[in-house]
Parts: sequence; structure tokens; C-alpha cells
Amino acid sequence: MTTTLDPFAEPFGTIFSDHMTVATYENGSYSYSGQTQPLQPFSMHPGSHVLHYASTCFEGLKAHRQADGSVAIFRLDDHVARMQESIAKFHVETPDATLLKQLILDAATANAGDTPPNPGSLYIRPAFIGTLENIGAAASPTTSGLLYVVNSPVGDYFKGGIRPLSLLIETQQPRTTPQFGAVKSGANYAMALGPTLKAKADHGVDQVLFAAGDDVTETGAANFFLIDDTTVITRELDDSFLHGITRQSAVTLAKELGYDVQERKLPVDELISWQGEAFLSGTAAVLAPVGSIVLEGQKITFGDGQNGPNTLRLREALTNIQVGKAADTHSWMTKIR
Ligand code: PLP
Ligand code: COI
Repeated sequence: MTTTLDPFAEPFGTIFSDHMTVATYENGSYSYSGQTQPLQPFSMHPGSHVLHYASTCFEGLKAHRQADGSVAIFRLDDHVARMQESIAKFHVETPDATLLKQLILDAATANAGDTPPNPGSLYIRPAFIGTLENIGAAASPTTSGLLYVVNSPVGDYFKGGIRPLSLLIETQQPRTTPQFGAVKSGANYAMALGPTLKAKADHGVDQVLFAAGDDVTETGAANFFLIDDTTVITRELDDSFLHGITRQSAVTLAKELGYDVQERKLPVDELISWQGEAFLSGTAAVLAPVGSIVLEGQKITFGDGQNGPNTLRLREALTNIQVGKAADTHSWMTKIR
């Protein structure tokens, strides 16, 4: 790293490692030199497809420092599969899993020395951008592009570490569209921006929980769960929201810990009368306790409003696997160094 900035002191995602990997996409095929490159800006035509028609999607995964000092990536294959699904949504040829995996592994291995101690990690950001030079191509896919991977040593996503977050429930506007809900596309985040900035300014909350049509789905960058001593509830999968890999991991671990896990729709009334705890799940968010929600100007507190014991228990079960303190019985970890 050319920078000596502290990932625990700087905002999430603002420090970059020195190496990146890049493959080019041209007329249906990808080409990769097999070599990492120094992190450097791209030069791009102002008429590039991505700049006008949002032909872009990305992934987010993490490499964690292990108890024995090595570094390992969490659920690499699952993130590769989801990125393939995202790219396909742009009617761009899907890269082979092997190629995408190689791009991720080469970048992360080259940058592994930047992995901060736990609870920090090396955040891995693969992205695809459409570079076709054609401002008339509004109704056709990009035929050229770049598939690349950059890394960022990170600390906590939410300022202040593990603390009870506050959410505003947005009952009118959905986060994104039904066609693109399950895609990790940049445009989805642009759509969530307005409601999120307004909620932060008007109510001082951390995030917005989207619940249009009386259907509690997810926040701008994480999935949502309810939990108490016996039960875990999270939204059943469909195309309206992102199928979080942390969500799936939490579901698996909660079942193993003996919780009754219910993947189903959650109406707002049930949420506001919930007597237990709530939390967010995501690669960046990990499992983050939710202390309170604001609905139509009213603040509702979960339990005593503090970090809930069941949330912390599940979080620990997850992070113990990620950092090699617990057995990796699901083969979720890929050692890189
Ligand atoms: N939902 C949204 C909108 C996200 O951006 C994320 C973050 O990646 C998630 C959910 C959680 O997904 P994952 O656990 O795969 O990181
Ligand atoms: C992630 O958790 O990887 C995310 O995508 C969050 C990101 C938008 C910062």
C-alpha cells in the first residue's frame, strides 16, 4: 500500500490497495493477461455505454485474516455466481466462473498483505463496466467492456463499530424495480439515494428499510432480519431484493444453532409489534444490530434498544468461521496466503 492510512479511522472503501486485475470484454469474449496491474485510472470515451445507459454491476466480498496468520476469502464461489447472474442481466456474455475467480484471486493475493487485523478485512470489489462508444445504443447492450477487481482494506462499515442502528421504514417508495431487485447494479443504489438522504436529514437515522406495498424487504445495502430466543424471520427470496450471501449464511447458521428459521413475507404491522431483536446482514455490514425504527414520525425500540444477545450470538458464529476460529464445515473459506 502506498498509503499508511488506518482503515479503522478512514471511511469504508476510501483506501485502495496497489494492485488490480483487469479483463477486457469484446464481442462476446473476455481476455485476461493473467497479470495484475498497478491500480490506475481508466481512460474512457465520454460516449461510453456505462456513462449513459448504466451498463454496470459489481460484487462485494471480503478476505479475512485467519487465526493462524493466513488470509482467506469468504464464500468466493457464491459471489462469483451472483456476479455472473448480474452481468447476464445486461445482456452481456457471462464470464466463465474460472476467469472471474482468477481475477479475484490474483488481485486479492497480490494485495493480501494489506489485510487489516480483525474485525477489519480486505474488501474485494469486482466490477463490470460497458465501454461501447455509442450514445445511440440506449436499447442495445454494450458489446465491449472491462471486468476488473480492486481491493480496499476496511474497518467497520457503520461508524462507531457494533452499535444499535436506527432505521426509517419507507412504506411508499421501493428500493428499486422488480426486474433489477436481485441484481447488484449501480443504478439500484442511485434509486435508494433520495429516500436515504432524506431519512438521514429528517430523522437522523442510519439507513432506510424499504417496505413498499406492506412488504418489508431490505435496506439500501443490507438484508433485514428479526430474531428472538427461538425464531428467526427474514424475507423469502424473490427477484425484488438482493439475495445476500451473508443472509444465506445467517439462515444456515441460525438453523444449526436450533432457531426456527422462517423465510417469508413480513408485513409492517408484524415488524412494529415484534418483541425481540432486529439486525442487518451484509458483507460490509456483517450482522449489525438494529436498536430502533422510525415509522411515520414515531420511534419504535426493539427490546431495550441495545445490541441484542441473539444477534451477537449469531454474529459471533459467523465471524468465528470467517476468521478461522471455528471449523469451516461448509467449505466457505478459500485460503489465498
Ligand atoms: N442488499 C443490498 C442492497 C446490498 O447492497 C447488500 C450488500 O452486498 C446486501 C443486501 C447483502 O448482500 P451480501 O450479504 O451478499 O453482501
Ligand atoms: C456490500 O456489503 O458488499 C455492499 O455492497 C455494500 C456496499 C454498497 C458498500
